Amino acid sequence: MTDSDGEPVRGRKNDLYPGVSDELAENMKCGWADTEAHDLQQVPQAAHTAARRAALSARFPGECLVIPAGNLETRSNDTEYAFRASTEYAYLTGDQTHDGVLVLEPVKDGHRATIHLLPRSNRENGEFWLDGMGELWVGRRHSLAEAEQLLGIPAKDVRELPEQLKQATGPVRNVRGHDAVIESSLTDKVTKERDEELRVYLSEARAVKDDFEIGELQKAVDSTVRGFEDVVKVLDKAEATSERYIEGTFFLRARVEGNDVGYGSICAAGPHACTLHWVRNDGDVRSGDLLLLDAGVETHSLYTADVTRTLPINGRFTDVQRKIYDAVYEAQEAGIAAVKPGAAYRDFHDAAQRVLAEKLVEWGLVEGPVARVLELGLQRRWTLHGTGHMLGMDVHDCAAARTEAYVDGTLEPGMCLTVEPGLYFQADDLTVPEEYRGIGVRIEDDILVTEDGNRNLSEALPRRSDEVEAWMAALKS
Ligand code: GLY
Ligand code: MN
Ligand code: MN
Repeated sequence: MTDSDGEPVRGRKNDLYPGVSDELAENMKCGWADTEAHDLQQVPQAAHTAARRAALSARFPGECLVIPAGNLETRSNDTEYAFRASTEYAYLTGDQTHDGVLVLEPVKDGHRATIHLLPRSNRENGEFWLDGMGELWVGRRHSLAEAEQLLGIPAKDVRELPEQLKQATGPVRNVRGHDAVIESSLTDKVTKERDEELRVYLSEARAVKDDFEIGELQKAVDSTVRGFEDVVKVLDKAEATSERYIEGTFFLRARVEGNDVGYGSICAAGPHACTLHWVRNDGDVRSGDLLLLDAGVETHSLYTADVTRTLPINGRFTDVQRKIYDAVYEAQEAGIAAVKPGAAYRDFHDAAQRVLAEKLVEWGLVEGPVARVLELGLQRRWTLHGTGHMLGMDVHDCAAARTEAYVDGTLEPGMCLTVEPGLYFQADDLTVPEEYRGIGVRIEDDILVTEDGNRNLSEALPRRSDEVEAWMAALKS
C-alpha cells in the first residue's frame, strides 16, 4: 500500500515522513464532522454474555481474570490474515475486535467487568491518517462510549492495560495463546496450571447452548444448505476447472451470508475423499466419481455449521458407490438415533461403528465375528475417525473440556454435536477389491440434543442415496 507519492505508509509513523508539511498536518486535524452515536442498541446476545460472565465470576471468586481477543497476524510483509477473535473473548463479550481484552477484576460481591479496546484514532497527533492502524486506513472504530452501549460493558483504552496489569496484586488467570503483550505483562503473576483451569472451564461452559446460540447454529446450517445447493448447480463448471471452483462457490455463500467458513472447506473429488483433511482442493472433478464436500458457514456471531455430503458428480451413484454410501447412511441413522438426553456421549459412536463393522464383515473385508472386530478395532482401517464432536463457535467445540465432562460424559438438552460416520477405501489399499479403491464416503449432520431426543439442524439436506439423486436432479434442471 502506498500514499499518493508512491511511498509505503502502512504501519509507519509520522516521524518517518518528513515530507508532511506543517500546513498539511494542521489541515488534516480539522474539518471533520462529529459522528459519535448516542443511541446504539445492545448486541442481541448481550443478556447472554452477561449471564456467562456471572457464571465465570462465581467459579473464580476473588481472582482477576484476563481474556484477550488476540492480535492481527502477519500474512506477508505488511499484510495480515483476516482476524478472527478468540472464541473465549467473543463468547463472553459479543465483541470481535482485534486487540480487545476482557478483564474481570474481583470486587466485594463478585467481579467488575471491563472491556479494553483501541479507541477512535486521535486526529490531533496525526495517528488518524499517518499510522497504519489509523481509522483512515482501516476504517472507523467504535468509540469507547459506543462500545459500552453495544456490549453493555464499561470500556477503557487497551493501550493502558499492560501497565495496569503489571501493577495488579492478588491472584490472576489469563487465557493464553492469543495476546503476547498481555501475557508478558502477567508473567510473574500467573501459572500454566491455573491458566489451564480457566481455559477448561470456558470450554466446558460452552457445552450446553442457550437459545441465542441454538438460533445462530441453525442460521449457520441454513446458509450451509444454500452453499451446498450452490455447489450442485455448478458441478459442470467444477468439472471444467477443478475442486477450487467448489471451494470458491461455497466461500461466496459464506462471505455473503456469514462471517467466513468455519474451517477450511474439504472439496474432495474421487480418491481425495479418502484424505480426511483434504483442503488443497486442487484436483480434477470427474463425472463418475464421488465428491465429498465437508463445509460450514460461520455466522457473523461466530457459530459454525459442519456438514458433509458425498455426492455423485454426474448425479447417479454407481452400484458399488451406492452400496458403500448406503452402509454409511445406515450407520449414521443408528448414530443419530443414539443421541438423546441421558445417553452416554460415546453411545452414538458405538452405534455407528457397530453398523460399519457389520458391513465390513458381511462384505468379507475383515473376519468376524463383529464383536471381535469391534474389540480389536479392526474396522478402523476404513472408518478412520471418531463419529462426531461437539459443535459451536469452534468447529471442534469444547475441545479443552475434561474427559469426564465430554467423551466420558452424558448428553444433555442444548448440546449440539455432529454425527459423521465414514468409510474410506484408499486408492492403494490392496486388502479390498479393486472396485472399492479410491471411494470415500462421509455423511455428517449437526444434531441438537432436545428434551425428548434430538433435532437434526441440517435435515434440509437429503441424506438417503435416492433422495440425494432426486435433489441433485431438481437443482440441475
Ligand atoms: N470438518 C471437520 C470435521 O468434520 O470434523
Ligand atoms: Mn466436517
Ligand atoms: Mn465434524
